[in-house]
Amino acid sequence: MKAVINTSRKQGKISKYIYGQFTEHLGRCIYEGIYVEDENIPNTNGMRTDVINALKELEIPVLRWPGGCFADDYHWRDGIGEKSSRPYMVNTNWGGVVENNHFGTHEFFELCEQLNTEPYICGNVGSGSVQEMRDWIEYMTFDGDSPLANERRKNGRDKPWKLKFFGVGNENWGCGGNMRPEYYSDLFRRYAVFIRNYGDEPIYKIAGGPNVDDTNWTEVLMKNIGKAMNAISLHNYSYEGDWNSKGDSVSFDENGWYSNMASAYKMKKVIKAHKAVMDQYDSENEIALIVDEWGNWYDVMPGTNPGFLYQQNTLRDAVSGMLILHIFHENSDRVYMANIAQMVNVLQSMILTEGENMVLTPTYYLFNMMKGHMDGLRLDTDYDSKNYEINGSIIPQISISASEKNGVITVSLCNTSIDADEDITISICDSNISSAEAIALTGAINSHNTFDAPDTIKPETLSINVENSNISLTLPAKSIAVITIK
Ligand code: AHR
Repeated sequence: MKAVINTSRKQGKISKYIYGQFTEHLGRCIYEGIYVEDENIPNTNGMRTDVINALKELEIPVLRWPGGCFADDYHWRDGIGEKSSRPYMVNTNWGGVVENNHFGTHEFFELCEQLNTEPYICGNVGSGSVQEMRDWIEYMTFDGDSPLANERRKNGRDKPWKLKFFGVGNENWGCGGNMRPEYYSDLFRRYAVFIRNYGDEPIYKIAGGPNVDDTNWTEVLMKNIGKAMNAISLHNYSYEGDWNSKGDSVSFDENGWYSNMASAYKMKKVIKAHKAVMDQYDSENEIALIVDEWGNWYDVMPGTNPGFLYQQNTLRDAVSGMLILHIFHENSDRVYMANIAQMVNVLQSMILTEGENMVLTPTYYLFNMMKGHMDGLRLDTDYDSKNYEINGSIIPQISISASEKNGVITVSLCNTSIDADEDITISICDSNISSAEAIALTGAINSHNTFDAPDTIKPETLSINVENSNISLTLPAKSIAVITIK
């Protein structure tokens, strides 16, 4: 197969925020996975040293918190002040476990500071009040003399935090209040007035968006809210089967591999449908689409709490993950942010933990390999892949995306075929190659890392041939690869 990358044809910026993450008070994501109160696990102010060090490598641009469904049940006042006096609550969404609120606003910003990431907070519309939301904003971001800002100071934080991204509710068509879009739009208009700008930069307001392909929700919000919102969020998960039988995260066969690829590739159709609606109301692309929940969702690991959504992570997740990231790149005129669900121990995670142990997943390696694309300018890339038809959908065997940043070209490629290696020659037009290197991730279809065998799957050097402005390589079946060209 031949691919031509035209370095002089730039196609807009791939927003770094597409590589965002999501953490919710769900299962062992926050407690145990990130935040510990166990002196046997090395930590700084509760944040696990091993997990933080591994995540720092990913240069995470933005982190969403506290949910998810949990956000519309969360009352921020319960999570400030002396930990021993913080009220308990029952996490009714996720396993009915007791939430002690020891991880709250101050701890979340501490996590963001340790990771050097920007916070994205999702507020409570479903069970909260306008006053609660307005007060939280003032507590976090007001620099002057006010009871709320002084309360923050009393709780140990003198200067306000920088908060750019704020979500006005989560899945308000479902767990966030079971609303109709007309009702939600009116609520958004009201809540948004009280999200005041105390900092230097106006807060970027994200409306709770549609579920999968519910374009009516998008249309009503575009019509009724319009530019009072900066973005609409979209949630779209992929499976091996469907919502009622999602498949096992590790035990799957060839069919399970391909049906997951087809499910992941549906992201293309879903984004296209919402974009078409948004284009009718906003031809200048001023309102963004933010896919703030995406990833592979399988049946929970047998023997684990069904409300904790714990699953393993295999090569399949890395390959279908790259397919989706490429779809975000292609739609970077509208898709400004995306947040994979979720960062640790829940759904398609970067990291899994068990007590003091930690493993990096194939999805961690995918994100680490893709870093070069963040804020890069997408380059026109021409190629003609073979396609497969799976469950009535057409999926490409090969997907390629290229970008340029600071004179470095990053090319990412994945091969969705289980058995066909692909010989590829890439011509880089209008640019000289002084050096090029590649790494790849491959293995058996269900290769994964465990606490006993943490290095079963990790990236390895991929051999490439460079001749003038052509790079040739064999992209192994079931693999992802990234080439860095200087
Ligand atoms: O990520 C798990 C859950 O999926 C989130 O809490 C919710 O928003 C979505 O339904």
